[in-house]
Amino acid sequence: MSKTLHIKTYGCQMNVYDSQRIADVLAPHGYVLADHPEAADLVVLNTCHIREKAAEKVYSELGRLRRVGERRQRAGGAPLQVAVAGCVAQAEGDAMAKRAPHVDVVVGPQSYHRLPELLARRAGRRRPVVDTDFPVESKFDHLPEAATPPGATAFLTVQEGCDKFCSFCVVPYTRGAEESRPVADVLAEACGLVDRGVRELTLLGQNVNAYHGEAPDGREWGLARLIRELAEIPGLERIRYTTSHPADMDDALIRAHGEVPALMPFLHLPVQAGSDRVLAAMNRRGGADDYRRLVDRLRAARPDLALSSDFIVGFPGEREDDFAATLALVDDVVFAQAFSFKYSPRPGTPATIMRQHVAEAVKADRLERLQARLDDQQRAFNRHLTGHTVDVLFERPGRKPGQMVGRSPYLQAVHVDGGPELAGRCLPVVITAALEHSLAGKLADDAKLGAVA
Ligand code: SAH
Ligand code: SF4
Ligand code: F3S
Repeated sequence: MSKTLHIKTYGCQMNVYDSQRIADVLAPHGYVLADHPEAADLVVLNTCHIREKAAEKVYSELGRLRRVGERRQRAGGAPLQVAVAGCVAQAEGDAMAKRAPHVDVVVGPQSYHRLPELLARRAGRRRPVVDTDFPVESKFDHLPEAATPPGATAFLTVQEGCDKFCSFCVVPYTRGAEESRPVADVLAEACGLVDRGVRELTLLGQNVNAYHGEAPDGREWGLARLIRELAEIPGLERIRYTTSHPADMDDALIRAHGEVPALMPFLHLPVQAGSDRVLAAMNRRGGADDYRRLVDRLRAARPDLALSSDFIVGFPGEREDDFAATLALVDDVVFAQAFSFKYSPRPGTPATIMRQHVAEAVKADRLERLQARLDDQQRAFNRHLTGHTVDVLFERPGRKPGQMVGRSPYLQAVHVDGGPELAGRCLPVVITAALEHSLAGKLADDAKLGAVA
């Protein structure tokens, strides 16, 4: 009998990928996806622990779901099962089972392939079943074929976990040690996705450019070698990867940016801050000038490369002159896009117990100033494309009828008049306007003639 499943995903692209895989794991057990938790037999919260009161937010969501379940049972309906997955599940584990005993399963990011078995174990027990192991077996060896057909673009996890231990970050604790999937597995998954219509792959990893997968030739391949191999798959037009660490950006990968046309000229390369003092306290391995030099080398290899970054303001001990160094770095590098955050103390990380925490009002002020500058750069970058022709990979219908949305090489959303037959095609588009968060364009004349497949 079929049952319904609703998955709510928080956090990074890796969680988006994991949520799809959770659906794949449950599909053979009769679960079909539902859009709303109210209609579901099972709700999975795939959680993120990176910032702020992540755990508290999950507990309040769990309280809400408990009331939904109670209302339904009073009305004579089927019980609502709830599983918590992801990084808060990993961090909280047994504490969550105690504080939210109505939850059915608490499962970490490395063991969700066991979900059907964990749900079955819950039957007849009063307490939640908790599995926050880092199992010896890899979950990837136990995941079934994708149940839902992919679109034109897909994520593919190639590496997971992190050994960098930046002093502010929970990821090494929630995702575990850095591990790379074997090349053959990645290629098989990539070929399967391309067979099903995927034209763009984004390779995922918390430290994706630390990739060092075992290869069929008995060696370990780095990310550059893997990308070159993937670029040979007929039908795969675009390759991206995220998130990379500046310290792992080796010569081979820089060269690949210049030599592999499928590798898109847009790179998310988080720098976090522009002050060497702060970068050292963050344990980021490398100073601001190392980052500047790296960007110069990347741009020498691929002159049209656009960059994006993450920034943290108000790290413990950050003074006004440190923050000024971040603004100076932003001015020097010029980013096409960026995410910036106020430093948020995370339980169990070294920065939490550092001295000289920065006042909330100062963090807020710095964030506003940094974001204003980054927004200016993003607007300028979007505007400079007006009148130019860029390739757009079309994904889905837009909000307005008769409109399709796709992505430029720089990951901007581009709206174009056109029908659903454009989906999955990569066509030249003349950019006509830069809007607040997207671009508008029209198909170039040679695209209309069908010259570009
Ligand atoms: N692996 C990636 C990023 C992981 S987390 C990397 O190394 O760059 C995504 C972003 O969240 C980070 O780049 C950082 O900017 C931000 N972040 C992580 N921990 C944070 C914290 N405690 N407070 C504020 N921002 C944080
Ligand atoms: Fe976190 Fe640093 Fe690892 Fe990125 S490199 S996941 S910021 S510890
Ligand atoms: Fe969040 Fe875990 Fe990703 S903490 S950012 S979901 S790795």
